[in-house]
Amino acid sequence: MCGIVGSVSTKTNIIPILLDGLKTLEYRGYDSAGLSYLKNSKLIINKVKGRVKELEKNIEKDAFSNIGIAHTRWATHGEVNETNAHPHNVGNITIVHNGIIENFSKLKHKLEEKGYKFKSSSDTEIAAGLLDYYYKKYENIDKTIQKFMKKVDGSYAICMMINNIPNTIYVIKKDSPLIIGTNKNTSYIASDVPAILKYTKNYYILEDYEYGKITANNITIYDKEGNILNKQLKEYQGSTLTSDKGIYEHYMLKEIMEQKTTIRKTINPYINNIDDLLKLPDLTKYERIDIIACGTAMHAGLAAKYLFEEYTNTKCEVFLASEYRYQNNFLNNKVLSIFISQSGETADTLAALKKVKENKCDTLGIVNVKESSIARILDKVLYTEAGTEIAVASTKAYTAQVALLSVLILAHAYRKKSIKEEKILKILEEFRAVTSILNPILEGTKTYENIAKEIYEKSDVFYIGRGLDYALAMEGSLKLKEISYIHSEAYAAGELKHGTISLITKNTPVFASATNKKINTKTISNLKEVTSRGAKCYLITDEDIQDNSFEILKIKKVSMFLKPLLTIIPYQLIAYYTAKFKNCDIDKPRNLAKSVTVE
Ligand code: M6R
Repeated sequence: MCGIVGSVSTKTNIIPILLDGLKTLEYRGYDSAGLSYLKNSKLIINKVKGRVKELEKNIEKDAFSNIGIAHTRWATHGEVNETNAHPHNVGNITIVHNGIIENFSKLKHKLEEKGYKFKSSSDTEIAAGLLDYYYKKYENIDKTIQKFMKKVDGSYAICMMINNIPNTIYVIKKDSPLIIGTNKNTSYIASDVPAILKYTKNYYILEDYEYGKITANNITIYDKEGNILNKQLKEYQGSTLTSDKGIYEHYMLKEIMEQKTTIRKTINPYINNIDDLLKLPDLTKYERIDIIACGTAMHAGLAAKYLFEEYTNTKCEVFLASEYRYQNNFLNNKVLSIFISQSGETADTLAALKKVKENKCDTLGIVNVKESSIARILDKVLYTEAGTEIAVASTKAYTAQVALLSVLILAHAYRKKSIKEEKILKILEEFRAVTSILNPILEGTKTYENIAKEIYEKSDVFYIGRGLDYALAMEGSLKLKEISYIHSEAYAAGELKHGTISLITKNTPVFASATNKKINTKTISNLKEVTSRGAKCYLITDEDIQDNSFEILKIKKVSMFLKPLLTIIPYQLIAYYTAKFKNCDIDKPRNLAKSVTVE
């Protein structure tokens, strides 16, 4: 959620490095920002409510320092304001922190009894207070950090400067990502690798309950007992984050347009022939597939559930990771748990994965970010090749997830002989043509812009569908509400009349997709029910339907395995243009962050 950057150098001015890193990470959390550095041994702290560009304006011109830490915040404890922004300084300690200190209120009370006074409502200030308390008590930084890890519940990636240790940054990590980069005479700290890629590709990954002592030329990493660890230096292999929107006004539009290549790139290794398809893992020993994810990634799982059950006769359950981690999971060695995540850092998904691993059951992941926390723990990972997704609203990651799951399910169908080889070959052929199949939709933006013009002033919008189309309705609805702030709900088409239809009034927009010839007539009847009550309906379908009572958005007839890709793009574009008409901050919608690293 929040972003951390730190740097210490022998000669280089680290302030531009910190600002640069914050700008790269800003899409992850952007309600406030802050930076602290030492100027002639004096601690300077700058904080602002708002974006990094505001912070930049606040920093003294020609500021120069060899050591500093910085943060971009997504508020957890305490409202969005300058006081609650990081860094937080208490006594000798200045920290930036990602995560949540869950027992902060008990700790606060104890520290207050010892005379500490706090200015903010942030749990991070309490963490700084606790570190200061132990540092004063033990006069030893290792003991201070080890004691801190024992006393604190929750998640933390902490980057810390200490007043009387001017050339060193300390880091502490549990359940929130943190890496340490190195290059000649300069060390870097970040919550995410892209923040430091301009300066180095070599970095160490901190694991839970590890801490580090970082100077310009030396990085020492310790376990929770203070033993020095011999960590492997990694070299970044992924693509570098581009801040270039190209010809597009927003990252979201750019990422929607990129889908024809990102889908193809993701499935490319598996679609040439049956041998390629069978490079995908063999799932035949499992009696049940569980899919666990959050948000849009969970919606990709819902599309997969339909395909698993319908075409491979394999039971598939889909869980929200935030629920899964606290419920009875009925796990056994005949269950495969599939985790889906773009960032690979989502706290709930990560915790659910750890739970399955503790139960010693098999795990497989569909992940976009290589070497992410989730990717590192999974038994097996299939990577989506969506590239870096910057817009908070997920688009190209979703279609890459759905496409990869679809070919995985197709391979399963082949092994189970639940679809004839001849048909599988035809579907593979369609997948190979996916770029040209998607082109007409991506080129037809005017249609979606016109629809957006009709709905952007509405207060409620509904999305309906059956089966696979219901899963797509859920994703379409999330896209719209997330970036345009219009209230929107998705319903199984047959369920509306059990209550929700009372909300349909004259001109309420209702979107439906009907792409399954077995049940299309049912969905269309449901659409008729709302049209009769005044709704303005839009139908995405591959059928030849003549009906003037709703607007028809025709898509090409393809196999069910490709239909989600064709159906979701109109929904993504309608959401995009609606938000644009409303002048919303499309790439950075209010209250959100790209990577949700708190539960
Ligand atoms: O990085 P993840 O795929 O694990 O993220 C999961 C959700 O937080 C994410 O899909 C979220 O719902 C998006 N903002 C939706 O557009």
